[in-house]
Amino acid sequence: MLVNSLFALLFLTASSVNGLPYRRFHTRATAATDDSASGDAAPSTAPGNATAGCSQASTYTFDDTNHANITMGDRSFLIHIPANYDATTPHALVVSFHGFKGNAQKQEKITGLSQKGLLLNGKGLVAVYPNGQFGPGKNGNESIRAWQGAPYSPPGIDDIAFTQQMVQQLSDNLCLDSNRFYASGKSNGGGFTNLLACTPSTASLFAAFAPVSPALYAGANPADCSPGRPVPIINFHGLADKIIPFDGQDADKEGRTEYATPNITEFRAAWAARNGCDALSASALKSALKSNVTLGVNAIVSHPHTDTTLKQSDCSANNNHAVVNGFTIKGLGHSWPSTAGLDGGVTSFNATTANILPFFDMHSME
Ligand SMILES: *[C@@H]1O[C@H](CO)[C@@H](O)[C@H](O)[C@H]1NC(C)=O
Ligand SMILES: *[C@@H]1O[C@H](CO)[C@@H](O)[C@H](O)[C@H]1NC(C)=O
Ligand SMILES: *[C@@H]1O[C@H](CO)[C@@H](O)[C@H](O)[C@H]1NC(C)=O
Ligand SMILES: *[C@@H]1O[C@H](CO)[C@@H](O)[C@H](O)[C@H]1NC(C)=O
Ligand SMILES: *[C@@H]1O[C@H](CO)[C@@H](O)[C@H](O)[C@H]1NC(C)=O
Ligand SMILES: *[C@@H]1O[C@H](CO)[C@@H](O)[C@H](O)[C@H]1NC(C)=O
Repeated sequence: MLVNSLFALLFLTASSVNGLPYRRFHTRATAATDDSASGDAAPSTAPGNATAGCSQASTYTFDDTNHANITMGDRSFLIHIPANYDATTPHALVVSFHGFKGNAQKQEKITGLSQKGLLLNGKGLVAVYPNGQFGPGKNGNESIRAWQGAPYSPPGIDDIAFTQQMVQQLSDNLCLDSNRFYASGKSNGGGFTNLLACTPSTASLFAAFAPVSPALYAGANPADCSPGRPVPIINFHGLADKIIPFDGQDADKEGRTEYATPNITEFRAAWAARNGCDALSASALKSALKSNVTLGVNAIVSHPHTDTTLKQSDCSANNNHAVVNGFTIKGLGHSWPSTAGLDGGVTSFNATTANILPFFDMHSME
């Protein structure tokens, strides 16, 4: 790790017609950039809670598509930084966990989280796609990537600890806003996202969570789930999902009870109760999203979602901070919702851009 010893406190004066003559922020810049980091590049918003990577050199090298494959011990992850990444401006971080048999590259493709122009808190976001370790698969004799919390997870792997170490390394090497870390995932990765939300140390690391078509086996959805704070959740599930059925199952087709998963309506209600919210009530159900509805604090869904319903918890008890949003999509199978069918199923909306990022945008740890 390269740690720069020169910490420069910069006081920037911005002329303003709004009666705010001084804009002060401190940047611990490298020797190479301390004099040039100010001026035109001054961010238009407060710097947020800058991670160590805002003030020390990075060991990461990005290619001309702004990607880097990082190995960390026996683990690996793919990073995409936005085209306008600025090493002195804290950026939001979205971690996205792949499904069973998936990998980092596939997760990037199905989510679109590395697309041009995506913003969180008005700035480009850093997207990170970690790879799971190889587990025994569903038959016990294969070698297939998977996350903790499933019957086919690699035994003895602590993916919670890995996630913490990865976020620490990212924080040391990139300029991130530690109040704006977000977790998302599909299927087995969605189940793991739920486990992160249920675990106090990671429920307090990430500001909000997006489990998509989550594989909520017992190991990913513990009966004693107790995050220690109300946790903002946005969840999507297709009614035609045959892998993780919306209605839940007591066992898989082979009769294996370790493949039991909950009724998704009850899963959402459990989160609402845990968050101290009222149940996802009938009055909150929007039968069709033909008009604007709010997703949480005040993120808005403003365009139609055909064949989709949204059930929300009434969270006035926590000032609508940790609203649980449950999108149910008629006809959709085990897919990340997108208009281009990037993950198989075609929907009238892109969950990433229409719903997940606006929801994340409204939630920070501040
Ligand atoms: C900002 O980060 C510091 C150091 O990690 C932490 O002690 C502090 O609580 C954070 N502040 C906020 C407002 O999150
Ligand atoms: C990262 O690894 C993948 C898979 O091996 C490869 O296709 C891709 O080109 C690599 N990207 C970079 C930036 O090294
Ligand atoms: C693994 O076991 C399954 C079920 O017993 C069998 O059908 C399959 O051929 C085996 N695969 C390998 C790679 O040995
Ligand atoms: C799922 O849970 C909801 C709410 O408790 C219930 O109304 C519904 O009947 C359940 N579905 C099945 C298939 O049991
Ligand atoms: C929905 O929200 C959009 C964006 O905020 C706004 O422009 C539009 O007027 C709203 N439509 C209705 C019907 O409230
Ligand atoms: C969804 O994303 C795809 C791929 O990026 C894009 O082509 C399409 O226009 C998007 N659809 C909507 C409704 O935003």
